[in-house]
Amino acid sequence: MNLTLRQLTIFEAVARHLSFTRAASELHLTQPAVSMQVRQLEEGTGLPLFEQVGKRIFLTEAGQEMERYARSILGTLEEASLVFDEMRGLERGRLHIAVASTANYFVPQLLAEFCRRYPGVQVSLDVTNREGLLHALSDNNTDLVVMGKPPEDMDLVATIFMENPLVAIAPPAHPLSGQARIPLERLQQETFLVREQGSGTRSATERFFVEHGLSLSSTMEMSSSEAIKQGVEAGLGLGLLSLHTLEMELELKRLVILDVVELPIVRNWYIMHRNGKRLSAAAQGFRAFVCEESAQMLNLPTLQRLQESAPAG
Ligand code: PGA
Repeated sequence: MNLTLRQLTIFEAVARHLSFTRAASELHLTQPAVSMQVRQLEEGTGLPLFEQVGKRIFLTEAGQEMERYARSILGTLEEASLVFDEMRGLERGRLHIAVASTANYFVPQLLAEFCRRYPGVQVSLDVTNREGLLHALSDNNTDLVVMGKPPEDMDLVATIFMENPLVAIAPPAHPLSGQARIPLERLQQETFLVREQGSGTRSATERFFVEHGLSLSSTMEMSSSEAIKQGVEAGLGLGLLSLHTLEMELELKRLVILDVVELPIVRNWYIMHRNGKRLSAAAQGFRAFVCEESAQMLNLPTLQRLQESAPAG
């Protein structure tokens, strides 16, 4: 049988997504290029690997076998490359990290410092929401993940490295801004700009209100913290976001944090990987760096400073 690693890599991505389009976008290829490689693999094996039923594609029986072999061959290769990375240590390793969109407000600073120390390490960074990160973990296609609360149904090694307070924000001219000790129930009268389904910020917020026997009656959904901040500034409603996404707006006084009883919602940032995953020296080094140094290195607004500057009452 005549096949290439490139064909296997492309086939594995199509089989995982069950979509030529999504595989093409993951691999930064065009869809015709992906289809051609899969066709050549099918010619090589002499069997169809996918079948189309209606608009959806499925793996044939041969396709399912091929998927098993492709995963095992690519996994073995990945392991081999890790062994060599480990031998090269931090001189020349690779580090693949995936972070929550909310963590992207500070992780690049950590990466910048890490790369200054270890210029030979090749870094790739994926930014997505919580749901995307859970996929990255279950597909085992990243070394490390930075996000809020780790999922309970996955066997992970997860370490807290910093607090992640969620605060209520408003434009400075809002009637609630400057008021002390606003009752949580009062927020129910306001429109809230909320993150999309699948966002960790969103699920933490929903959980918090349910725990307090409350619900937000008027919400408007937006798919990024950036959009929410712009919307709040423009007067569309209030927001509940990680304090770590707000550094610039607070500094420029474009947004204010509301002094709401029961807030902030106290969450934590975790760095995690699948239990049993073999981490390269670069990934081990980055993990240690984040756990030991990030909280001091990053000059982020903190819960403590927030409480110190909160109006008395
Ligand atoms: P996000 O954050 O999904 O809201 O970007 C992830 C998390 O807080 O876990």
